[in-house]
Amino acid sequence: MKGVVLAGGLGSRLYPLTYATNKHLLPVYNKPMVFYPIETLVQAGIRDVLVVTGGPHAGHFLRVLKNGKELGLRHLEFAYQENEGGIADALGLCEDFADGQPVTVILGDNTTDANIGPAVQSFREGAMIFLKRVPDPQRFGVPVFAEDDPTRIVAIEEKPAVPKSQYAVTGLYIYDHKVFDYIRSISPSGRGELEITDVNNCYIREGTLRWTELDGFWSDAGTFESLFRANAYWAGKARQEQR
Ligand code: DAU
Repeated sequence: MKGVVLAGGLGSRLYPLTYATNKHLLPVYNKPMVFYPIETLVQAGIRDVLVVTGGPHAGHFLRVLKNGKELGLRHLEFAYQENEGGIADALGLCEDFADGQPVTVILGDNTTDANIGPAVQSFREGAMIFLKRVPDPQRFGVPVFAEDDPTRIVAIEEKPAVPKSQYAVTGLYIYDHKVFDYIRSISPSGRGELEITDVNNCYIREGTLRWTELDGFWSDAGTFESLFRANAYWAGKARQEQR
């Protein structure tokens, strides 16, 4: 299985921090943010990774990640996203890298200590998403469950004003090769982006989207509050491990 880290976008919600560098290189406790999703992939046995980035500070990634060996990667590639066209637009740049095989995708501002190895190893086809119960689902993609079957997702709504469940669709996904056809089939949303939620809804309509709950801490780090929360969690965990 190959891995993809999506680290494009301008990080404008973190201005002025992101005037100087890319959001995904900001510190989360003792490491640059992007180390966390890469380490999640490595822990799952994935050593072949493509990082998609963009914006004015894209060159900084090379200095920080180098060839990826220090993080346990065998092969590290970069792709440059020309505009902030959305998560699905960024993933669309990975088609040649995926080479017809499934890919595990992580958003570059997501940090988790859950082990996704078992899901990666047992994946065959369709799509797998990872849910987490959160206090503020309206900030995320939110699954809608069937009334007669609380385990079946009938749709995902992106940042709904009135969420129909308490779950966030986290920024970790496993897709088969059909994902690139689905990306070509969708149109930009109201915010002008190709939404990963629309891609996931294609898999739901096809009946091949599966889900599991992330077993561990999970947070994005794309707002001041969530960046602070992620810092506090990883600092606390490091302190506990030192004891
Ligand atoms: O964190 C999980 C959430 O991430 C999901 O619940 C949502 O369904 C999903 O849309 C996304 O929501 P956000 O609004 O938080 O996404 P954001 O625009 O902050 O982008 C998250 C990461 O995706 C960002 O750190 C880098 C990557 N990205 C984003 C955009 C817009 C790209 O690589 N290229 C892009 O053009």
